[in-house]
Amino acid sequence: MLGSLVLVWIFICLLFLFIRIQRPKNFPPGPRPVPVFGNLFQLNITNPLKEFERFAERYGSVYSLYFGRRPAVVLTGFKAIKEALVTKAADFSGRPQNLLVSHATEGKGVIMVDHGLQWKEHRRFALMTLRNFGLGKQSMEDRILRETKHIVALLEKNAGGSMNPQTLFHDAASNIIYLVLFGVRHDYEDNMHKEFIQRFTENAKIANGPWAMIYDTLPIVRNLPLPFKKAFDNVQKLKQMGAQMIEKHKATRVPGEPKNFVDCYLDEMEKTAHGSSFDETQLVNYVLDLHFAGTDTTSNTLLTAFLYLTTHPDIQEKCQQEIDEVLEGKAHASYEERHNMPFTQAVIHESQRIANTVPLSVPHCTTKDTELMGYSIPKGTLIIPNLSSVLKEEGQWKFPHEFNPANFLNEQGQFEKPEAFLPFSAGPRVCLGEGLARMELFLILVTLLRRFQFFWPEDAGEPDFTPVYGITVTPQPYRMGIKLRKLAREM
Ligand code: HEM
Ligand SMILES: *[C@@H]1O[C@H](CO)[C@@H](O)[C@H](O)[C@H]1NC(C)=O
Ligand SMILES: *[C@@H]1O[C@H](CO)[C@@H](O)[C@H](O)[C@H]1NC(C)=O
Repeated sequence: MLGSLVLVWIFICLLFLFIRIQRPKNFPPGPRPVPVFGNLFQLNITNPLKEFERFAERYGSVYSLYFGRRPAVVLTGFKAIKEALVTKAADFSGRPQNLLVSHATEGKGVIMVDHGLQWKEHRRFALMTLRNFGLGKQSMEDRILRETKHIVALLEKNAGGSMNPQTLFHDAASNIIYLVLFGVRHDYEDNMHKEFIQRFTENAKIANGPWAMIYDTLPIVRNLPLPFKKAFDNVQKLKQMGAQMIEKHKATRVPGEPKNFVDCYLDEMEKTAHGSSFDETQLVNYVLDLHFAGTDTTSNTLLTAFLYLTTHPDIQEKCQQEIDEVLEGKAHASYEERHNMPFTQAVIHESQRIANTVPLSVPHCTTKDTELMGYSIPKGTLIIPNLSSVLKEEGQWKFPHEFNPANFLNEQGQFEKPEAFLPFSAGPRVCLGEGLARMELFLILVTLLRRFQFFWPEDAGEPDFTPVYGITVTPQPYRMGIKLRKLAREM
């Protein structure tokens, strides 16, 4: 009896010894991991952000964490992030596989695809296609202005009162992506569109919650019927819907005369029928990726911008003066005009800085054994660039901790962008939609400020600027008061 207990004990000890987590030599410092669970117990899985802050203070700008047996390195501050993502770009541009998000997307699309030919081909294709449609040229602008008209119409209906702009901005951002992808938009009341959005939103919540962390940490539980299964159901349903949209879209297409992203992809697919990574399941995933990446991000940034504009009437008025002057006699805003609007540009950039929309970027992964700031980091290490630490870094900004457009203006009042402005990240994996996003932010903000005055409703209490954390950060829900402005030419 005693003998068998001792045997079991020895067995357990050997097991722990065998599976003990061996930190690689010269690996960045961090809290000590325990076998199997890594640092799971040192984190508050309902709210890990607090602990992260403590780790960065204690261990410095390059520190390590274990998700189960899997090592991760968190990068804090401009210097570490630039050295990794830009200077050593080739070593740091992978994406981790074997996580909930990677399994849900099945290695297709673009966002979670590892560094390699498939990613390169798809990324290059998207950049080229978005450019051919005129990022910086006319027709992308038309698509955005077309959707902006619907925003204006809805706000006009609510003028004289107040509304929560969350759904409106979200639907508008989503429609702009649809317009780019398919050339059509969905009515704000459309049911299919609502289901599409709802499943995406639910998945963003799951990916960000404790169940995703448990899935990523403990491979043995992955087949159990736990709440993360819902994420896979949602993805299946979204793929079905995406495939249906593409199927329906094919009827409108003239091969060789592409009018939108999906047309271009189908043309490319037929041109390179053999030996390329382009195929229709890829396209479905690509459509979902672009929709996912372009919707919450843009709309949450707009929400932050309008939260600060409604609560800073002096800044709003200064934008309006500049906009009225520059657009005098013109029917609508154009992106080119941004060069004549330094103050408005500064306000938009400052809103992005404060919005801190994608605080931890998208996880990267090392593609080979490498070094960073004196530490050795093996191939396959998860890399988490803490973008929010750069957007608030002391020494990089004139006013790191307050909303102040002067962060982007020089002594002469000209627009100037500090190099620590990294809301889109940096390097080869930098946001693929940056050009589109910046055009959207500018055209929507300028059009709305020209037409409306926004104010904080008297009965709304004190504004709450505390952000709500997630994969993307969003402000607390708020209502904004809306008044019609007289256009200069109507006065
Ligand atoms: C204000 C709006 C936006 C912000 C703040 C933002 C931010 C980001 C960030 C931080 C990343 C991760 C970069 C990295 O891995 O280092 C990213 C990736 C990406 N974004 Fe955006 N984004 C925005 C809008 C958009 C839009 C409108 C699109 C759609 C066209 C888009 C498409 C993508 C894609 C496809 C990736 C993955 C790129 C890759 O892995 O190669 N984003 N974005
Ligand atoms: C974890 O975070 C939540 C939310 O902030 C908090 O209510 C809870 O007390 C924390 N738990 C521990 C163990 O610190
Ligand atoms: C990222 O940086 C911010 C600001 O310095 C900090 O509050 C947050 O906890 C950090 N997150 C991680 C994962 O280190």
